[in-house]
Amino acid sequence: MTADTSTASLAFTVTRNPAAVEPARRAELLREPAFGTVFTDHMVGITWTEQDGWHDARVQPYGPLALDPAAAVLHYAQEIFEGIKAYRHADGSVHTFRPDQNGARIQRSARRLALPELPVDVFVQSLRELIAVDGDWVPSGADQSLYLRPFMFASEPFLGVRPAHEVSYYVIASPVGAYFKGGAKPVSIWLSEDYARAGKGGTGAAKTGGNYAASLLPQAEAYEQGCDQVVFLDQDRNVEELGGMNIVFVRKDGTLVTPASDSILEGITRASLLQLARDRGHAVEQRPVSIDEWREGVASGDIVEAFACGTAAVVAPIGVLKGRDFTLEQPAGTLALSLREELTDIQYGRREDRHDWLLRLDA
Ligand SMILES: Cc1ncc(COP(=O)(O)O)c(C=O)c1O
Repeated sequence: MTADTSTASLAFTVTRNPAAVEPARRAELLREPAFGTVFTDHMVGITWTEQDGWHDARVQPYGPLALDPAAAVLHYAQEIFEGIKAYRHADGSVHTFRPDQNGARIQRSARRLALPELPVDVFVQSLRELIAVDGDWVPSGADQSLYLRPFMFASEPFLGVRPAHEVSYYVIASPVGAYFKGGAKPVSIWLSEDYARAGKGGTGAAKTGGNYAASLLPQAEAYEQGCDQVVFLDQDRNVEELGGMNIVFVRKDGTLVTPASDSILEGITRASLLQLARDRGHAVEQRPVSIDEWREGVASGDIVEAFACGTAAVVAPIGVLKGRDFTLEQPAGTLALSLREELTDIQYGRREDRHDWLLRLDA
């Protein structure tokens, strides 16, 4: 499949939602939205066909999609998505964080899933177009944001196993507050020994639905074990990541260590936190980290902190790692929370954006 990089921008048609939520009801919905349960009045849609490339770019009322039951995505899971937030600053303006990175990542995911590549400029434009009509849905409360969910799938009705000739891209948006109830309190992690999330040469580095489907059963096992989240190992017993977050370890000398692997999702939150740590003079190592190194590091006092990170939850310190035959109490440190504060200060416009990570969406 060839990359469609020729289209730098598309003309969007806008159809307003005649049944848009009243401002008073919206204010009520924005007060304490549970993650991913409330959606805005509109969505963006763009269609791709082998013949015409990307076309029919539109903002339309949020609502159910009409899909042919033979749509290839329903059978062969040719699907990818992204997750990125819009933040309201104190002056009322709306900004997003490193959208070029999400745009580049959805292109990498597209390549792996044999989907067409949406030009990064069009990806960013699609976020702008949605904020232009639904900007009032960006909440202004502490730790609140508008979670933007771009996704792309094989909409061609065809039961043969090959890349679809018709693909749909949408962006929906959902106002959110803190991901974990109780804010940034330490989470407990279940070590999945029976199930893998990804394999060598598989789709682990792509943001594709199948990876998340594969994580649901081990995540259920984590809940049964009284844990919040699950962590996965690779075939060599190296730590990969959680179901939806990357993992970082802090050593006694201040070095941050995080798994390097081509079967984990390259998190934009992790890359940004590591940059902030480097700016403070911390060394950063990206290399395989075995589960034994983690356990022995905690036992010897060499690993003083571990945390998970991702767009939805930002940073979650790890308090406990539980395996089939052990429980590891991971000591709490202060670096994770301090990096979290610095990152969220930048995202919410409370601190200088010295790396030029923010992009204003509403102007
Ligand atoms: C499997 C997985 N790993 C890591 C991350 C973190 O990525 P990011 O920081 O870009 O949100 C995510 C998504 O949030 C994810 O789904």
